[in-house]
Amino acid sequence: MKKIDIKKIKVIQAPLAGISDKIFRGLIRKYKSKCLMTTEMISSEMLSNNPNARIVEFEDFEYPLSFQLVGHKIDKMVKSAKIIAPFACAIDINCGCPVKKVVVSGDGSAMMKTPELIFDIIRAIKEEVDLPLSVKFRLGWSEKEENYIDFAHTVELAGADFITLHARTRSQMYQGHADWDKIALLKREVNIPVFANGDIKTLEDAIKCLEITNCDGIAIGRGIMGDFTLPYRIEQYFERGVIIPAPTLEEKISMLKKHLQQEVDYMGEKNGVKFMRKFYSYYITSERNASKYRSVLVQLEEQKEILKVLDEILSLHSKNAL
Ligand SMILES: Cc1cc2nc3c(=O)[nH]c(=O)nc-3n(C[C@H](O)[C@H](O)[C@H](O)COP(=O)(O)O)c2cc1C
Repeated sequence: MKKIDIKKIKVIQAPLAGISDKIFRGLIRKYKSKCLMTTEMISSEMLSNNPNARIVEFEDFEYPLSFQLVGHKIDKMVKSAKIIAPFACAIDINCGCPVKKVVVSGDGSAMMKTPELIFDIIRAIKEEVDLPLSVKFRLGWSEKEENYIDFAHTVELAGADFITLHARTRSQMYQGHADWDKIALLKREVNIPVFANGDIKTLEDAIKCLEITNCDGIAIGRGIMGDFTLPYRIEQYFERGVIIPAPTLEEKISMLKKHLQQEVDYMGEKNGVKFMRKFYSYYITSERNASKYRSVLVQLEEQKEILKVLDEILSLHSKNAL
């Protein structure tokens, strides 16, 4: 697989377990972004014990694609890195996941408590696998234990090629705001590319975040969930200074309908409709009665009922606009 030149990448699709499937990546490409995609986190425990497990079959349009590994055992991380290497353009190590079932075994953001371990893991993978390696991490375990700068130095010294900082602590989970000032501090401290992450939901956010942090690029997660044009619009701003307006509600609903149809085709109506419940609040967030519509939409079980409500939203919206 072709290695990436990270200096040419401005936008990374941040990993989103349970969200970022093939359809998700396809929509990002349909709306013309050439961002670096990232798989959901893949357990090195699982993969190293089932080397023949077919994770997923990836298609050309999904590339450039980085594979994210989660785990803390050196041998299992190296074994997993070697298994995925033929399919990956880069390997990312998850040191940011705050979820209890992940941190309880020392993985995800718990790795920030054991910098010596991440050092050894990076060294060991770099010895065996010739791919760009990145680490995604948080500010630290808690407000009192913020160690992101020391952690970044360790990661850089071990040989990581770039890093992504989600500017929250583990204790914050997803509460409060990402602290972009701290990303700015980090950017001044290291010599490898830094990607800013957290709360970049619009092009304006991206511009502001870049002004504050002076980062090499940004990683976006939830911002894409209701606007697949966002990565492309950010790239266009970076590359050509062009500001492409955000999609209107009409355009977003049309995007949502296509997304729904594709998921239904991919996983069947029952599962597709259930899966799409994760997205409604993001798609219609700008609408005045968003939370009311969301609570209606998440209870529906048939595609045609959803389409009917979406048309109602549109018709009410256009009446209100008159
Ligand atoms: C549903 C969901 C799943 C996530 N899965 C992962 C994951 O597998 N690996 C990871 O490093 N981060 C994961 N994250 C964190 C995101 O990659 C990102 O760091 C976080 O959402 C902040 O960025 P955002 O404000 O752009 O969403 C997940 C976040 C959400 C909301």
